[in-house]
Amino acid sequence: MPRLKDTYPLYLNNKAAQPNTDLEVTDKFTGEVAFRTALATPEIIDRAIAGAVHATEPMAKLAGYERQAVLQHCVDRFKERFDELAYALCVEAGKPIKDSEGEVTRLIDTFRIAAEESVRMYGEVMPLDISARAKGYQSIWKRVPVGPCSFISPFNFPLNLAAHKVAPAIAVGCPFVMKPASKTPLGAIIMGEVLAETDLPEGAFSILPATRDGADLFTVDERLKLLSFTGSPVVGWDLKARCGKKKVVLELGGNAAVIVDRDADLEDAIERIIFGAFYQSGQSCIGVQRIVIHENVYDRFRDMLVEKTGSLIAGDPKDRDTFIGPMISEGEAQRLKGWIDEAVDGGAKLLTGGGCKGNMLEATLLEGVHKDAKALNEEAFGPLAILQPFSDFDEALAEVNRSTFGLQAGVFTRDLFKMFDAWDRLEVGGVVINDVPSYRVDNMPYGGVKDSGLGREGIKFAMEDMTEIRNLVIRRN
Ligand code: SIN
Repeated sequence: MPRLKDTYPLYLNNKAAQPNTDLEVTDKFTGEVAFRTALATPEIIDRAIAGAVHATEPMAKLAGYERQAVLQHCVDRFKERFDELAYALCVEAGKPIKDSEGEVTRLIDTFRIAAEESVRMYGEVMPLDISARAKGYQSIWKRVPVGPCSFISPFNFPLNLAAHKVAPAIAVGCPFVMKPASKTPLGAIIMGEVLAETDLPEGAFSILPATRDGADLFTVDERLKLLSFTGSPVVGWDLKARCGKKKVVLELGGNAAVIVDRDADLEDAIERIIFGAFYQSGQSCIGVQRIVIHENVYDRFRDMLVEKTGSLIAGDPKDRDTFIGPMISEGEAQRLKGWIDEAVDGGAKLLTGGGCKGNMLEATLLEGVHKDAKALNEEAFGPLAILQPFSDFDEALAEVNRSTFGLQAGVFTRDLFKMFDAWDRLEVGGVVINDVPSYRVDNMPYGGVKDSGLGREGIKFAMEDMTEIRNLVIRRN
């Protein structure tokens, strides 16, 4: 089994620094301190932003093949350090080891896609002679890096959601400062260790664990030209209100729904829904929270789902048989347990689960939840799914759209017309047919509408956000 070090540095202007060891990070299963990292002060963050400003021009001047070489180096090193990275996630996030390995695989994909895209930043030649006044004119536009970026990444995918900011930034040539989640900083710190092996211009990157209170510069500093935040909707929208003139990308939460129509292959749908609702204890922005099932198959679906959910193995995330590990904290588990109890007090039926010990919350299924209950309307971000019957497909679409969120939705159907109907009418960033909303491949456009956010990830799309179009108008007289 890989071993973690006792202490880790932060990365300031490309270099490891150990000004202190003030951040204690626990093993989320045992609750013991697993390691300590340096914690950035506002003064350190200020120096990192100054470094990023200094690196703006040298980063923009890097050739495509040079940016590609940096990203390819990361791909190679992440492959070499695969087990160590997976173990780090398993400890710091409490993520079951198989899910942790899945995340490292995705991390490698994300950097590989960025390496490919880094040499494909195309522009366009446009004739402008659309009327007499523009006779002899044409335009050529290209993309230029937006400048120093500010990244704030979440605890639930400490590696891959950090990678979705870092990799496109390098691909386009933007320097950046990153604040990883303080409960799970190690994934990003190891990424810093690998980037420090490259010859990126000085100041190109800083990776700075910081407390939320000490990290306001990530949001308000005007030298930073883009803020990309992944995390809770409450925090995300607040940051947007305070970040001044920056471009903003918000990848926020949701209470994702899946529709199971009467023609669905129920066994397959159940297998995928178990994954979508309960992998990494439901701590995903696109975890299945609402299951909207055709009334003709409702009872059979419910009984099969309850039986399978009850047999999921919970326990130590380091054990390869474990499917349900701990939640990130006891406070989070208690919060969701409170919502479940409140829903039951309001008339819901507890089909399975509901028990909670420390930060271990059982995989829980409810039905008959009141339409105003928090469990149904807010983001659960834990191992909870709610069953709801429908009789008519329009009604199912309306139920999915009743949410204030709109990240992704899944639809199990074999009916082509319903597929297109769902794609046209669901108010979400992405519709997944015959799978759960929790499905994501790292090159696809990914992001939300409504309260779920702004902008899109998926390397190519994030690269667009991290650039500005610069136009050239040419007159031939
Ligand atoms: C998220 O939780 O926002 C990301 C989900 C994923 O990348 O699979």
